[in-house]
Amino acid sequence: MRIDLRSDTVTVPTPAMRQSMADAEVGDDVFGDDPTVNRLETLAAETTGKEAAVFVASGTMGNLASLLAHCGRGRDVILGDESHIYHYENGGASALGGLVFRPVRTNADGTLPLDALRAAIHLPAHNYHYYHYTRPGVICLENTHNRCGGRIVSPEHFAKVAAIAAEHQLPIHLDGARLFNAAVAAGRPVADWTRHVSSVQLCLSKGLSAPVGSLICGSAAFVDEARRMRKILGGGMRQAGVIAAPGIIALTEMVGRLADDHRNARILADGIAALPGVVLDPPEVDTNIVVFRMPAVAQAEALEEALGRAGVLVSNFGGGRLRVVTHDGITEADCRAAVDVMARVWEDTCGT
Ligand SMILES: Cc1ncc(COP(=O)(O)O)c(C=O)c1O
Repeated sequence: MRIDLRSDTVTVPTPAMRQSMADAEVGDDVFGDDPTVNRLETLAAETTGKEAAVFVASGTMGNLASLLAHCGRGRDVILGDESHIYHYENGGASALGGLVFRPVRTNADGTLPLDALRAAIHLPAHNYHYYHYTRPGVICLENTHNRCGGRIVSPEHFAKVAAIAAEHQLPIHLDGARLFNAAVAAGRPVADWTRHVSSVQLCLSKGLSAPVGSLICGSAAFVDEARRMRKILGGGMRQAGVIAAPGIIALTEMVGRLADDHRNARILADGIAALPGVVLDPPEVDTNIVVFRMPAVAQAEALEEALGRAGVLVSNFGGGRLRVVTHDGITEADCRAAVDVMARVWEDTCGT
């Protein structure tokens, strides 16, 4: 048995996606000549209500090219301290672009505390020591929020952050790796969120099951600059229609099925919450991610290892927190089987 709950990034392309790769009409995309890439970009721009989009190799590249396109060396990237960009993207904006990360505490529900956000933007009223301060360049939001357990950050919160950003003429970049999960679970169009931001990065290769790729969407001028940054990062791809074709299927045929992942995540959550001493953290399961806390760090490590030996793969968030994620490769029966294995392994490893 192998039930891989480490991430929705482990999804594999569907048979239709593989066929679309074989059939894809291609051209040199650095010349703008690849009709399949162009179709995917137009589709993404229409879906998010933005003027333009550019196809990039990964979510990390999408976030990085966006931040570099928004601002230059010495400017602040204001972002949540639990954000994926801050935790997992190797400080690319800082390492490659000279941008300065200015983290603010992330609320448990994935929102940013507005007071802390204002304080992070704030420049001193008396500019005598002005030269001591870095200058704000961009604010980042994430939705759904990965390290906050797949929570949906509401469009209403986006509106509040947008009002603050507008006071300071600051752009907002959205890491929307799983924005479609939020949209499906909330029953709202993605434009309800994207209308509040200057740029958004969408991942095709998570719950939507495409093998590779993300899209950056924004104004035509912004996307021109992001395209230039993509080239600088070595992401100018040639006959990229071969990988864009499954992306079109991802956006047109795979969004609705995310609701299955959300239902399956609830099965896992209910089973996990029944294990003695284990708490869901956060208790809410909005989408396809379930994070839970073990009584001790060592127990989390022991459980992760023992589950792996039993064929149930989970990921470790550190601090005694484990994560499971549902996706296209996981059925309802898999979730029920995983819960049974967890109950047995928990008893053997951590039970008294
Ligand atoms: C919230 C979030 N943003 C960005 C990324 C980066 O995507 P990629 O792995 O395609 O670089 C991930 C990947 O898991 C993610 O969860």
